[in-house]
Amino acid sequence: MPAIIKTIWPDALALSHAAAHCIVTASNKAVQEKGTFTIALSGGSTPKLLFQLLAQAPYNNNIPWKHTVIAFGDERFVPPTHEESNFKMANEALLLHVPIPKKNILAIPTVKVTPAQSALLYEAAIKKYISTSHPFDMVLLGIGEEGHTASVFPGSPLLTEKKHWVKNVWVKEKNMDRISFTIPFINRAKNVAFLVSGANKSAIVKKIFSKSGTALPAAQVKAKENTCWFLDEAAAGK
Ligand code: 6PG
Repeated sequence: MPAIIKTIWPDALALSHAAAHCIVTASNKAVQEKGTFTIALSGGSTPKLLFQLLAQAPYNNNIPWKHTVIAFGDERFVPPTHEESNFKMANEALLLHVPIPKKNILAIPTVKVTPAQSALLYEAAIKKYISTSHPFDMVLLGIGEEGHTASVFPGSPLLTEKKHWVKNVWVKEKNMDRISFTIPFINRAKNVAFLVSGANKSAIVKKIFSKSGTALPAAQVKAKENTCWFLDEAAAGK
């Protein structure tokens, strides 16, 4: 039975530690059960602290990196060296510091391809590890102040896209092309973990958990097993 688990933590550091513990538990359980742990990282700034924690003791010594596959829930269509690149942030905060096999890092291609080609190439790369019977063990997500998650903004065709798991989309709110998981694909994941920090997110968090917010992209996310919301007190409006 799918569960929505909301936990509130004093600050961003505490919520990041809680999410790190959750990843240690989920990764060891997945590897014990099927030999592999598959996780899609979220973008933006909130997860940086979590990634830095995962790269250091005690977490880095307790995650089966050799059997872990890391993908990205979305990407800004910029080079991997660009300040806005989600890959750049994750690489510098985490991937360069842990013994994950390079072949197990599924970065979204953003050079020498068009956005449409990138989405097709990335979806094909994911399909080497992910299938209907083997969904992502975990997808990390953040939310924007208008209720977007990954690069699915209110009214986006990615809210209902069924044919593809990954699509390219022009995000007018950000004036850039994005490559993103669709909501129906995110909802195939076993577990989803939202990381939400800061008073600027409190209004949208309240709306997401209210009747008026059910159509918001972040409110549409329901993982097959657990949808965990890691909030700090500021984002929870405390
Ligand atoms: C992105 C993200 C996006 C992000 C939210 C929150 O590429 O920007 O995937 O969905 O998670 O916008 O971003 P912050 O953590 O920076 O508030």
